[in-house]
Amino acid sequence: MGSYKVHYSVILLYFFLGNFFVPQCFAIGVDANQTALLVVNASEASARPIPETLFGIFFEEINHAGAGGLWAELVSNRGFEAGGPNVPSNIDPWSIIGDESSLIVSTDRSSCFERNKIALRMEVLCDSEGTNICPAGGVGVYNPGFWGMNIEKGKSYKVVLYVRSLDAINLSVSLTGSNGLQTLATSDIIASASDVSNWTKVEVLLEAKATDHNSRLQLKTSRKGVIWFDQVSAMPLDTYKGHGFRSDLVAMVADLKPRFVRFPGGCFVEGEWLRNAFRWKATIGPWEERPGHFGDVWMYWTDDGLGYFEFLQLSEDLGAYPVWVFNNGVSHNDQVDTSSVLPFVQEALDGIEFARGDPQSKWGSLRAAMGHPEPFDLRYVAIGNEDCGKKNYRGNYLKFFSAIRQAYPDIKMISNCDGSSRQLDHPADFYDYHVYTSASNLFSMSHQFDRTSRKGPKAFVSEYAVTGKDAGTGSLLAGLAEAAFLIGIEKNSDVVEMASYAPLFVNTNDRRWNPDAIVFNSSQLYGTPSYWVQLFFAESSAANVLNTKLQANTSLVASAITWKSSIDSKNYLRIKVVNFGSDNVTLNIRVDGLEANSIQLSGSTKTVLTSDNLADENSFKAPNKVAPTQSLLENAGEEMYVVLLPRSFTSFDLLTEDSNYLSTRGTDYSSRSSF
Ligand code: AHR
Repeated sequence: MGSYKVHYSVILLYFFLGNFFVPQCFAIGVDANQTALLVVNASEASARPIPETLFGIFFEEINHAGAGGLWAELVSNRGFEAGGPNVPSNIDPWSIIGDESSLIVSTDRSSCFERNKIALRMEVLCDSEGTNICPAGGVGVYNPGFWGMNIEKGKSYKVVLYVRSLDAINLSVSLTGSNGLQTLATSDIIASASDVSNWTKVEVLLEAKATDHNSRLQLKTSRKGVIWFDQVSAMPLDTYKGHGFRSDLVAMVADLKPRFVRFPGGCFVEGEWLRNAFRWKATIGPWEERPGHFGDVWMYWTDDGLGYFEFLQLSEDLGAYPVWVFNNGVSHNDQVDTSSVLPFVQEALDGIEFARGDPQSKWGSLRAAMGHPEPFDLRYVAIGNEDCGKKNYRGNYLKFFSAIRQAYPDIKMISNCDGSSRQLDHPADFYDYHVYTSASNLFSMSHQFDRTSRKGPKAFVSEYAVTGKDAGTGSLLAGLAEAAFLIGIEKNSDVVEMASYAPLFVNTNDRRWNPDAIVFNSSQLYGTPSYWVQLFFAESSAANVLNTKLQANTSLVASAITWKSSIDSKNYLRIKVVNFGSDNVTLNIRVDGLEANSIQLSGSTKTVLTSDNLADENSFKAPNKVAPTQSLLENAGEEMYVVLLPRSFTSFDLLTEDSNYLSTRGTDYSSRSSF
C-alpha cells in the first residue's frame, strides 16, 4: 500500500465518530487490534443481479497446459512431425533401444496422412537367429511422454498406432518403468506381410499391473526387417466424461464452476509469426490427420489433439460458454494488411459455422462427423489478443466485426482496446482488459471500475494476476490482492461482465510463466493461493450482489452476495472480506433488511484462507499449506462480531430462512460444492 497523509479534519472526524466510522479512503494509525464495521443491506431493493457469466476460466496453451497437461495423450510427438517437414529429422523425445549394429532409425515422408507426411522408419539389422542376434527383449524405440507417463495399476490404456512393413512383423507394445526394465503392461502385435504391406491401424488395450508415474511406451522387436510407424498414441481410458481430458485437472477446474472458457490463448493465438499461430482448421477432424504446429511464443510443439472441437467440448462439459479467441491477421511480428484480411475473416466465419452451424452446413457437417451433431453454444468471440496498439488492428477488427455481425447478429464480439477509461472509437460488445501487476497495485485496483462509465460496452477482464516478486510461483500475498480485485469486480459487475485469472495451468517441467493457478506434473497437482481465491467466487455468477458499507481502514475490502443453492434449495448470504493488513481486525457485521431471526445458526460457516507468511506457497510436498479451512460460524446472526486474521481472506456463509428473500435467481448448478 502507498502511504497516505492524514488530514486533521479526518482525525477529528475519527475521534468524533469512533472507530467504526472511519472513511475508507484514508489510512489511520494502525492499532494492534483494529475494529471495523460492515453493514450489509440485504433488503430486496439493495440487490443487483450479477451476470451469469461473471467468473470463468482462461485456458491458454502455455506451460504445456494442454499438450502434456489437460489433454490426456501420453505420447509426445506422436506423429514424428515435431522435427519439421524436412527429412531426415529429429524425433525427440523418442529414443532408440539398441545401437547402430542392431537398428537404424530415421524419418521419411511416407506417411499416409496428407497433412503430416513424416513417418518413422526403423530398419532392424539383428534377428532372433543367425549371426546378428538381437539383444534380449529386442530393439526398437520408446517415448517417455511429457516428462514421464503416469501409468496406474488397474487402469487401462489404449495404444493406437499406424504400421507398415514389407515383411511379417512381431512387435511388442509395452508400458514400462523409466529405464525400460519393469514391464507394467504389454501386448504383442503379430501380423503377416500382407496384413501390413499398406499402412494399417492397430489398436491395443493395455491394463497396467503396477503403478509408475514416470513410465514410457516401448515398441520393440527381435525380427529383422524394415518397419514404418506413424501416429502412435496412448490414451488412458479414464478421461473426463470420456472426452480425452485429464480427469484430475478438469475436476479442479470444475470445482470453480466456471461460466465461460476463454481459449486457446493469449499470445498462443497471435504467434510470434503468423505462420505459427493457432489456426483452427488445422486442429479438427480425426486426430491422426492433424498436422500439429510449433507454438513459437511459448516455444513448444503441440500435436493439436486438443483442438478447436475439443475446446468447445470442454466448455460444454463444464457447463460453460465457450469464448473463442481467433487471430485477426496480426501476430507479434507480422500483420496482414486490412486490404487482404478477408481470408482471415472467412476463416473466423467458418469457425463459427463449425461450432454452431447446421449439421448439413459445410463446416457444421464436420462437427457432426466428429460426433457432435448438436451445435455448440458459441456466443462470444474475441477478435485478437492484446493487439489494440498494432497498426492494422482497427482496420482488420472492423472487417471482422461487420462480417460477423451480419452473419451472426447474436454473437457478442470482444475488442482488444481498453474502454474502461475512455470511450472506444469502434463498435464492440465487450472490451478486453488485462492486468498483471504488483500486489499493492492490484489490491488498490479493487476500485478500478468504480468510476468506469456505465454507458459503453462492458469489460471482459480476461487476464488478471499479481506477477513479479510479490507472486513468486504463487504466493498468499498474490492471492489476497487478487481477492480484493475480484471483490471490486463483483461489486462493479454492472460494468464488468466476465473475468478470468491467467494463466490457468503450469506443468512444472516447462514453466514459461509465473505464477499460475493450477500446478501439475504427470501425476500430482495442487492449487496456488490464486486458485483457492477463485473458489470463494464460485457461487457469485448469477447471484445477487448486495449493498455494503465498510467503515474501516484501507486494508479491508468486502462484498456480500446472496444465492440459492440448487443442492439443498436453501438461501445463502456470503460475505467476503480481505484483510490485507498485518493486524487482527474485529469486524462488527450488521445485516439489515432481513426478517427477524432469519439467519440460521446451524449451517452457517466461516472459511478462511491465510498462512504464517505472505510469501507462503503450496508445493507438491505441501499442497495445502495455503488452502481454505472451514469451520462452523458459532455466532451467526443479523449482528455479529468476527475476528479477521491478519493477511487473510474470509468468507462468512450464512444460511437464511427469509422466505421473501430474493436469491432465487442464483443457481449453483454443479453438483460439486465449492468448500
Ligand atoms: O497469460 C499469459 C500471457 O499474458 C497471455 O498469453 C497474453 O495474452 C498476456 O500477455
